[in-house]
Amino acid sequence: MIRVLLLYGGRSAEHEISCLSARSVLEVIDRDRYEVVTVGITREGRWVRTDGTIETAPGDRLPHVADLGPSVGLIGTPDGPRLLTVDGEVASVGPVVDVAFPLLHGPFGEDGTVQGMLETVGVPYVGADVTASSIGIDKAAMKASFAAAGLPQGGYLAVHRSRWSQEPEAVTAELAAAFPPPWFTKPARQGSSIGISKVHEVAGLDAAMAEAYEHDEVVVIEQGIEHARELEVGVLGRGQLDVTRPGEIVSSHEFYDFEAKYLDASELLIPADVPAGVAERVDALARRAYRAINCRGLARVDFFATRDGAVVVNEINTIPGFTPSSMFPRLWAAEGLDYPALVDRLLHDALG
Ligand SMILES: Nc1ncnc2c1ncn2[C@@H]1O[C@H](COP(=O)(O)OP(=O)(O)O)[C@@H](O)[C@H]1O
Ligand SMILES: [Mg+2]
Repeated sequence: MIRVLLLYGGRSAEHEISCLSARSVLEVIDRDRYEVVTVGITREGRWVRTDGTIETAPGDRLPHVADLGPSVGLIGTPDGPRLLTVDGEVASVGPVVDVAFPLLHGPFGEDGTVQGMLETVGVPYVGADVTASSIGIDKAAMKASFAAAGLPQGGYLAVHRSRWSQEPEAVTAELAAAFPPPWFTKPARQGSSIGISKVHEVAGLDAAMAEAYEHDEVVVIEQGIEHARELEVGVLGRGQLDVTRPGEIVSSHEFYDFEAKYLDASELLIPADVPAGVAERVDALARRAYRAINCRGLARVDFFATRDGAVVVNEINTIPGFTPSSMFPRLWAAEGLDYPALVDRLLHDALG
């Protein structure tokens, strides 16, 4: 039996989405091969040992990790990494953990922090390592890596809070000279479209920047790619990569914001109805983007395809949405790798 540590919940806005994903993984994971140990991370960041059931509390719409029960942590021991449970004054040590599945999105989960903890105690884990995770979550670092790899992307400018507060006119002039509005302002390290605004004219920039700086000290201002289709592919592996055909997001809002992502029904078209040339281009760029950050395990790479047939990279997500109705698992299902097989493949790759 392989003992799997399933980490879910977490300190980001996608806490509940992570719980939904974890619940689905628990439903399908092969119990003849894997013994699952579940640890929920509360919104405040406490690790709690849970009993393997993830339920939605009465009156709630989505499940979350309750701040109840003993705390746990990971420790290295001579036999390998183990969970340490602390209940009041009493500590007890659990069995050795073989592999971890950090099913956590956004800051404190997808950004290399949890991955660093797993590295420190020597637990193999599903997904990207510390460096790739921290580059992938940081839109400024990610874009710089993509630029260094020669990948096509829209124009952008990364601006530190201190520069914006000292010389907003110079930033605005630099921006206007580089590319005209609309602009997208984004906190460098967030996710779920939180803190992102679409800015139609210079007058709207101030408020949009202020909102983005609430979430990070670096804000990326991007050229708006107008009338573009949003295409996404799933990638698996390290070295030898497998890539799905593209899927398309048809957003119910002006852009794919938080509401459109999780609350309103945005449509996912899988596979996307695109010309063969566009699909091939997306495939090739996805591989290059994955390699540009030295990713491993899994990623979803997102693109904009413009009317004139150009394809630009938007971003890479190293722990993409993972509920059975999320884009990433559905892309793989369309290739014949269904949800249980996908979970198995990820754990197998992490151990390999
Ligand atoms: N440069 C852009 N041009 C046009 N639309 C954009 C641009 N950047 C973001 N968007 C829209 O905003 C959404 C969220 O932006 P994204 O960079 O993917 O943030 P997140 O990491 O939060 O998913 C995208 O899915 C897209 O709909
Ligand atoms: Mg996105």
